[in-house]
Amino acid sequence: MRELKNKNESVKSVIMKNNYLKLVLLVMIISVASCKDEELPAPMATATPASQVITSGETTAIALSSDINGTTFSWTVVQTGVTGAIPGSGTSIAQSLTATGSGSGTATYTIIPTANGVVGDPITVVITVNLAKVTYLADVKPILTASCTPCHLAGGANPNKWDEYTPTKTKISLIIDRVKREPGATGFMPRNGTKLSADKIAVLEKWVADGLLEK
Ligand code: HEC
Repeated sequence: MRELKNKNESVKSVIMKNNYLKLVLLVMIISVASCKDEELPAPMATATPASQVITSGETTAIALSSDINGTTFSWTVVQTGVTGAIPGSGTSIAQSLTATGSGSGTATYTIIPTANGVVGDPITVVITVNLAKVTYLADVKPILTASCTPCHLAGGANPNKWDEYTPTKTKISLIIDRVKREPGATGFMPRNGTKLSADKIAVLEKWVADGLLEK
């Protein structure tokens, strides 16, 4: 009788153990399944516009968005022939860029989106920074009014007025010829004055190359 009871007891405990293992297994399956449910999607970043061409000294205007609300963005940048680009974060890239060379430069931003701790694929935005064009009002007129005063200014006796756009534009090759002569040489301008610096003469020459714009 005692022996039977023991046997019963051990059968019972085997069944209990089995049930216990089943339960553990079930809990494991459920937790693995729920883990899968919680796997969050990676955000996909969009830059608007996707690239930009600006003039040296202007500010970039790139808006960053993604398919997931609350995405944050951070970026790194590689600049060539440009200064002013710096790494940062936010939902827009607004940086004032300046070309450093004699031609245009680029700034290439690599933007990384993050949403709910999930990091998405990086995207790149290339900004081309063109040199500003030389214009009469911004660049040429200040040089000529400072150096050719008082003779060539409106109101003076000389018929050639360099503080006016049209006569200056018409005679720009004569102007460049005269300012390139050496002081003391016949026809050197500014008459009895100091020779213009090389960078000022370069501005006059670039004005021609850029198309003799007024502004
Ligand atoms: C002190 C007065 C004076 C100053 C300053 C002066 N000029 Fe003259 N410029 C003259 C006179 C006078 C003439 C006419 C004689 C001549 O052609 O050399 C002249 C003539 C010229 C001519 C020839 C125009 C033509 O139609 O042939 C050019 C070009 C010129 N000047 C450019 C300049 C420039 C550029 C500056 C300033 C960087 C300048 N001048 C400063 C007095 C001056």
